[in-house]
Amino acid sequence: VSTVLITGGHTGIGLACVNELASVWRANVILAGRSPDKMEAVAREVHERFGVRVDTLSLDVGSLASVRAAAKQLRSWRENGKLESLDALICNAGAQFHGPVPYSPEGYEQTFAVNYLGNFLLVHLLLDELSDGGRVVHVASGTHDPDTMDGKMIGGVGEPDADMLASVGKDGHKVMSPLRRYSTSKLCVMLFAYELDRRLRRASPQAMPIASIAFEPGYIPETGLVREGPDFFKRFSRSAFGKWLVKVIGVTIGDVQLSGAAMARAAIDPACAQSSGKYLQPKDGRHVEARSSKTSYDEAKAQKLWQQTERLVALRPEERPTRLQGQGAS
Ligand SMILES: NC(=O)c1ccc[n+]([C@@H]2O[C@H](COP(=O)([O-])OP(=O)(O)OC[C@H]3O[C@@H](n4cnc5c(N)ncnc54)[C@H](OP(=O)(O)O)[C@@H]3O)[C@@H](O)[C@H]2O)c1
Repeated sequence: VSTVLITGGHTGIGLACVNELASVWRANVILAGRSPDKMEAVAREVHERFGVRVDTLSLDVGSLASVRAAAKQLRSWRENGKLESLDALICNAGAQFHGPVPYSPEGYEQTFAVNYLGNFLLVHLLLDELSDGGRVVHVASGTHDPDTMDGKMIGGVGEPDADMLASVGKDGHKVMSPLRRYSTSKLCVMLFAYELDRRLRRASPQAMPIASIAFEPGYIPETGLVREGPDFFKRFSRSAFGKWLVKVIGVTIGDVQLSGAAMARAAIDPACAQSSGKYLQPKDGRHVEARSSKTSYDEAKAQKLWQQTERLVALRPEERPTRLQGQGAS
């Protein structure tokens, strides 16, 4: 039986994914997040309905200390036999922050910390725990691409410069709008997903042990993502007219159930085993491989971002995954 760890799997698209993993794929699930009561309730319900095992793991992905503690907890489950295998990691948790610029416990801009930095560290700490043939699914967003309506609607995207993004609004760095902070954090997710794929391939040219897949749910205004946004925006985006309008202007449309099911497939369906280094996006009700933004394929930017991020998360030598250290890795 496969076990899939998902962050933010107790709400929204993540919850639809969890239901699909349990009902269709009969996978055990680990719900990782910072809302223990909600997670426990979902864990009980999913276990009772589908009979699979559902564990909860305390994780605030915006706090590097919490990410390290969660990874330690998971490793202890592996050592004491509570967890037999870990087969996929879905980095789904994500957030937008409106109002004054918030900062993480480590002092980094919170959108960047939650959507990108925490995932970078979590993936590093769990990469060697994944079974051979395992997968990392990075939940991105069409807003990362300024040449599409998804990106234009949100006001474009900033430079994927980790030092600048971590310090937005302080230390002499300019303030950036909430939505632009969001789209730029998702561009970083895309650059990370592709760079991880390249590094895994270089480290194991013969057989790719882990797939790194970028996944876009599509625009779904019903979830909690816009909960902190202005009221008029929430009302408008969830209205029939609002939904019709975004579709007509060419925004990539998702659906909680369909996108959740596609997210589950990205993590577990043998049909997606060859999707490493690819971007899955909804098209006519199905998720298919698609081109992402021009910048997302920029290898020099991806490498610079990776190096900057290693410094920001203060990655220790023993935290570097063995899987990235094989022959040919840089
Ligand atoms: N909805 C869309 O239109 C859309 C489009 C493209 C991409 N996405 C992406 O899809 C993913 C899922 O979003 P959603 O739409 O399903 O929204 P959602 O219902 O708000 O789900 C977000 C999840 O992330 C969790 N989370 C937020 N901050 C966290 C933190 N610091 N630590 C741990 N967990 C945290 C939330 O947990 P709490 O309950 O504890 O807050 C929640 O479970 C996100 O990455 C989002 O960016 C969404």
